[in-house]
Amino acid sequence: MTGIRRGLAALASAALLAPAASAAPAGLAATPPMGWNSWNHFADKIDDATVRAQADAMAANGMREAGYRYINIDDTWEGQRDAAGVIHPNAKFPDMKALADYVHAKGLKLGIYSSPGPKTCAGYEGSFGHEAQDARTYAAWGVDYLKYDLCSLGPSMQAAGSVEKAQAIELAAYEKMRDALRAAGRPIVYSLCQYGFDQVWRWGGSVGGNLWRTTGDITDKYPRMLQIGLSQAGLSKYAKPGNWNDPDMLEVGNGGMNAIEYRTHMSLWALLAAPLLAGNDLTRMTPETLAILTNREVVAIDQDPAGRQGDRVQVEGPLEVWAKPLAGGAKAVGLFNTSDLPAYVAVDFAKLGFKAPVRTRDVWAAKDLGKLKSYRVLAPAHGVVLLRLG
Ligand code: GLA
Repeated sequence: MTGIRRGLAALASAALLAPAASAAPAGLAATPPMGWNSWNHFADKIDDATVRAQADAMAANGMREAGYRYINIDDTWEGQRDAAGVIHPNAKFPDMKALADYVHAKGLKLGIYSSPGPKTCAGYEGSFGHEAQDARTYAAWGVDYLKYDLCSLGPSMQAAGSVEKAQAIELAAYEKMRDALRAAGRPIVYSLCQYGFDQVWRWGGSVGGNLWRTTGDITDKYPRMLQIGLSQAGLSKYAKPGNWNDPDMLEVGNGGMNAIEYRTHMSLWALLAAPLLAGNDLTRMTPETLAILTNREVVAIDQDPAGRQGDRVQVEGPLEVWAKPLAGGAKAVGLFNTSDLPAYVAVDFAKLGFKAPVRTRDVWAAKDLGKLKSYRVLAPAHGVVLLRLG
C-alpha cells in the first residue's frame, strides 16, 4: 500500500464514522434504481422533446411495467445563473417544471445532473457555491434523482497539496449536497459519480450516496463492458438496500455489441445488483433489445428484495462463474465464457452451498432443467448461461 493509499484509507474510515447531518429519506433506492439516462446514446444532443419521447416510449413499451422508472437527464441541460444565483436550464429545456410534470404524469420520475465543481464534465455550469440553492431549485421543479459528477472539482483537489486534503475536499463537497438535498425536503436519489477512486464503496454511503460509480465510463464495446463488470469482484459486501455499487449505465441496444454480448452485459449487471439505467434510444429499439431490457426473470434477479450483490465464485482462464444470493435461499448463477470461441463452462452446486440436488432453471432459455447437483454447458463466445437455483 502506498502512502497515498494509506492516507485515503484512513480518511475513508474516518468518513464511515462521521454522523449524518440529518436523516436520510426512508426507502429511497431500496432496490437498485431502474430507468434511462441520456448520456450513452445522446450525449449533448439531448433536449426537452427527446426526453419526453423517451418517457412516452418507456410508458408504452412495457419498460415501466418491468420496473423502469427514472428518466434521467445527464450533462448539457444547464444554462446560466440569474442575478440571484438561481440556475436556469439552457434553450434546449424551456421549462424544467413542465417537463417534470409531463414525466410524472406518465407514472415515471425525473432525474438531473450536476457537479460539485464550478463546471460539469462537459463544461456547463456546476453547483459549486450554490449547492443549497440548486437543491431547492431541483426540488421545486419536481426532480427525483441527482447524479453528482466530480468533474471540475478534480483540479482543486489536486491543488490541495496532499492526498488527505484532496479527499477531505471531496467528502465535504458530497456531504454538502447531501445536506442540501435533505434540507430541500423532497426525496431525491443521490448518485455519486467520481469514477471509483479512493475506494468510494467504503465511504459513498456515509456521505449520503444511494449509489456510487465504481468505475470510469463504459463504452459500447464488449471488452470495456466486460472489464468494468468483472472489476466489481470483491465489492459485494458494500452493497445493500439504499446503497449500491454503480458500474455505470447500460449500453444494451446501442449497436456496438451483438445480442449475445448484450445478454452478457444485462446478466452481469443483474448479478451485480447494479442500477439498470438503459442508455439507448427507447423510441427506436429492436424487439430483441426490448426483450433483453425487460426480461422479467433477469430484472427480478437484479431487483431481488434481499438486496445482495453477487460476486465471483470461480475463475478458470476465460471461464468465470458469478453467484448472487436471492431471497429465500435461492441463488442466481452466471456461467461466463469470455473467450472468442464457444466453450464448456461447468460448476458444482455444492460449491455454491447446495448440498442436495436443487431445482435449476436456465433463465434466458426460460427452461426448467430439473433438480441438479452440477451443470456443464456450452456457452457461446462472449456469452453467458444464467441459472436460477432453488
Ligand atoms: C462523465 C460521467 C459520464 C457523463 C459525462 C457527462 O464522464 O462519468 O457518465 O455523465 O461525464 O459529461
